[in-house]
Amino acid sequence: MTLTAPPTKVAIIGGGLAGLTLALALHDLNISATVYEARSEDFDQGGGIMLSPNALRVLDSVGIYQRIRDRSLQFDVLTFKNGQNETTDEYYFGSEKLYGYHAIRIMRKELLDEMKAMLREYHIPIHYDSKLVAITSDGPDEVKFAFAGGRAESAPLVIGADGINSTVRGTFLPQVKPMYAGFMGINSVVQRSQLRIPDGYSLPATVMAKSGAFLLVPQKPDGSELFIGSQRRFPALDAAGWEALRKDKQKLYDMLQENKDEWPDVVQSALEAAPVDRMGFWAFHGIPPLASWLSDSKRIILVGDAAHAIPPTAGQGANQAFEDVRALATLLSELSPDVPLDKAAAKWQSYRQDRIRRVLDLTQQMNMKRLPESERAKMPPGAIWSDKSLTRGEGGELRWLYDPDLAQEVKKWVEELKQT
Ligand SMILES: Cc1cc2nc3c(=O)[nH]c(=O)nc-3n(C[C@H](O)[C@H](O)[C@H](O)COP(=O)(O)OP(=O)(O)OC[C@H]3O[C@@H](n4cnc5c(N)ncnc54)[C@H](O)[C@@H]3O)c2cc1C
Ligand SMILES: *[C@@H]1O[C@H](CO)[C@@H](O)[C@H](O)[C@H]1NC(C)=O
Ligand SMILES: *[C@@H]1O[C@H](CO)[C@@H](O)[C@H](O)[C@H]1NC(C)=O
Ligand SMILES: *[C@@H]1O[C@H](CO)[C@@H](O)[C@H](O)[C@H]1NC(C)=O
Repeated sequence: MTLTAPPTKVAIIGGGLAGLTLALALHDLNISATVYEARSEDFDQGGGIMLSPNALRVLDSVGIYQRIRDRSLQFDVLTFKNGQNETTDEYYFGSEKLYGYHAIRIMRKELLDEMKAMLREYHIPIHYDSKLVAITSDGPDEVKFAFAGGRAESAPLVIGADGINSTVRGTFLPQVKPMYAGFMGINSVVQRSQLRIPDGYSLPATVMAKSGAFLLVPQKPDGSELFIGSQRRFPALDAAGWEALRKDKQKLYDMLQENKDEWPDVVQSALEAAPVDRMGFWAFHGIPPLASWLSDSKRIILVGDAAHAIPPTAGQGANQAFEDVRALATLLSELSPDVPLDKAAAKWQSYRQDRIRRVLDLTQQMNMKRLPESERAKMPPGAIWSDKSLTRGEGGELRWLYDPDLAQEVKKWVEELKQT
């Protein structure tokens, strides 16, 4: 039986960005949720993320945005620079004027910690050190599931927010495996005061040179620290190989320093400042587009990276996860005999899959833009992203991406369903 009323209880597997935001959104709609997270409460994956207006609108709607704004760095554009310190393009990541919000960069742990604090304030239960290992039965009226250590639970609805390697997904789409996109980013962290930044040079920037693209991304609210690094093609390794590379900081450092002379002075100053012990990398993985984000019973629903992990060059992974959960929470609160879960979820999935397809196209064009010059020269017209609006983004070329209000969007679907 499909649900014809808001669920009495939702089990959320995964307490990452998608899972915690969903729990907060459901709470506001008086739907009770429980979160199960494999890791311990204080786990720190490290690093920062950039969030764009489409996601900040979601975080604003659940009350998180106001609480983290002052701990984030605000900016509007990612500048593309050539070797002569000139701006060749601008990519709008946010704009209060155009899209209602500046973009922000925030450390992932700070954002997660604030969400966890809100869950505590609202008394939303979250079980740490709870790794889901199996869904033991799916439907017709409830889902049963089990955790490492043997605990078993059930709920009328289970949300898989357990990331790119999703165990929940594995229970009904076992053939889906994360795929390596053939690119990696190698990075480090430096102090702004260590760099030779030309006057009037706008950051964050992607600096283009013969050997590819180099990122200079300020972080910390005052921009005193920069995340720096380059993106390159790199052959696939097996899990043990990636693990070995992660530990080999000297190797990563040497890779980052390759072709140092070909970079403009500002990048050279970043390379000179990069400490070996802060070296890291990020191998870009995605999953192939899934035909369905729902199990046959429609009582298991995938969100975030579990449903659509995408490579990072348009910076939309987490941003899209926030869109998923905002729309889903509102939709669940609107379920009724006229708006049954099976039909409602089909609308949600098709809207979300369309958006992800467009983001993937954009990501592909951004990947091409960051290739070495010689490779870019071979690309057909249109393959490489550029801001085609007359006034460098002021026309809002990315309006389709940043403008939608997901809660409003859902109200439209509900009206449509009621009329048919
Ligand atoms: C270095 C880096 C930088 C990034 N920068 C950006 C950026 O600037 N902007 C952007 O939009 N995106 C960025 N992304 C992508 C973004 O991090 C992901 O898209 C986002 O984290 C997805 O959120 P999620 O909640 O779906 O999954 P995750 O954040 O992966 O969370 C999944 C959670 O589920 C838990 N879990 C996993 N398996 C189980 C299980 N079996 N049982 C219980 N719990 C489980 C995990 O411990 C984790 O807490 C970046 C990614 C990386 C790696
Ligand atoms: C949730 O419940 C509270 C208290 O019963 C009520 O005031 C509020 O309007 C409800 N909110 C929604 C979105 O239903
Ligand atoms: C997914 O699994 C791969 C291979 O085991 C691992 O390298 C990677 O860190 C995992 N990703 C996440 C987000 O857990
Ligand atoms: C770029 O800026 C740096 C630092 O200000 C300066 O040394 C260099 O000459 C500039 N390069 C060009 C081509 O203008």
